[in-house]
Amino acid sequence: MMMDQASRLRELVSRNAAKNVTRSMEANNTRILAVASGKGGVGKSNLVVNLAVALAQQGKKVVVFDADLGMANIDILMGIVPRCNLYDVLYGRKELKEVVVKGPEGIEVIPGGSGIQELANLSPERQEKLLNALQQLAAGADYLLIDTGAGISRVVVAFLGAAQEVIIVATPEPTSLTDAYGLIKILAKYGDHANIKTVINRVTNRRDGENTGEKLRMTALRFLNLELETLGYIREDKYLVKAVKEQEPLLLKYPYAGASEDIQILAGRLLQMKIDKPMGVQKFFHRLQRLFG
Ligand SMILES: Nc1ncnc2c1ncn2[C@@H]1O[C@H](COP(=O)(O)OP(=O)(O)OP(=O)(O)O)[C@@H](O)[C@H]1O
Ligand SMILES: [Mg+2]
Repeated sequence: MMMDQASRLRELVSRNAAKNVTRSMEANNTRILAVASGKGGVGKSNLVVNLAVALAQQGKKVVVFDADLGMANIDILMGIVPRCNLYDVLYGRKELKEVVVKGPEGIEVIPGGSGIQELANLSPERQEKLLNALQQLAAGADYLLIDTGAGISRVVVAFLGAAQEVIIVATPEPTSLTDAYGLIKILAKYGDHANIKTVINRVTNRRDGENTGEKLRMTALRFLNLELETLGYIREDKYLVKAVKEQEPLLLKYPYAGASEDIQILAGRLLQMKIDKPMGVQKFFHRLQRLFG
């Protein structure tokens, strides 16, 4: 009996110790999601902004990295004004932490600006230094959302290859779907590729959204033997256009709009799709550097 109690106690103690270990590792349990599309202008940045808001409203700490080298516009959509971006950091004019901007709902935004383009061409030492600093900024986050530019540049592919989860945004237009499929095909070539999720944007109704998502899923399954996860769809919504003009996230300005509802649903689904082992920022930036190299 005594022995039994002693061993149970030991078991309890070691279980608690294991719990503590897990907790201390949680700091590095950031889920890394990169958002991309084949064709441009399909709604990536709006998805990133509003998904960030939805996740933050669920109590998650969210960092958004604006890695679009063309038209960085997360800041515009959030109505915030970054004074500087990664470019100023690369040229030694600013510290990385001065570049971070606070958005709504406690979201932190790292504006990449024209610095993104240079990221891949830095000397290994400077690259390492910068990636380390980025890593520290994102370390406490539950979610790191990365908005990438459209298409298949070297930098975009590196981000997508390094992330653990990739969200591909497409619209029901045939050109957008074909380009999305083209991008998925490239990602599938990576041995250790991301878990790929899809969002169909600007759909006319629920059926359109579900059918289009299913069409893309079946195509990838059939021709690439790849299982896509359908994250959801977003309806075409004039309130989204209004929110863009008013420089406020749709979810905050028009929370009851159809598109807001759809984004809430897909954020809920994302929260439910637990992944076994979130990659954490450290591993992500290591992989990124390897892919840049
Ligand atoms: N669900 C929607 N309903 C109505 N309009 C939409 C919707 N989604 C996007 N749009 C329109 O498309 C525009 C482009 O969206 P957004 O900037 O998010 O695309 P993007 O994929 O990030 O573009 P880029 O490739 O240039 O970075 C929006 O400003 C808006 O006018
Ligand atoms: Mg964009």
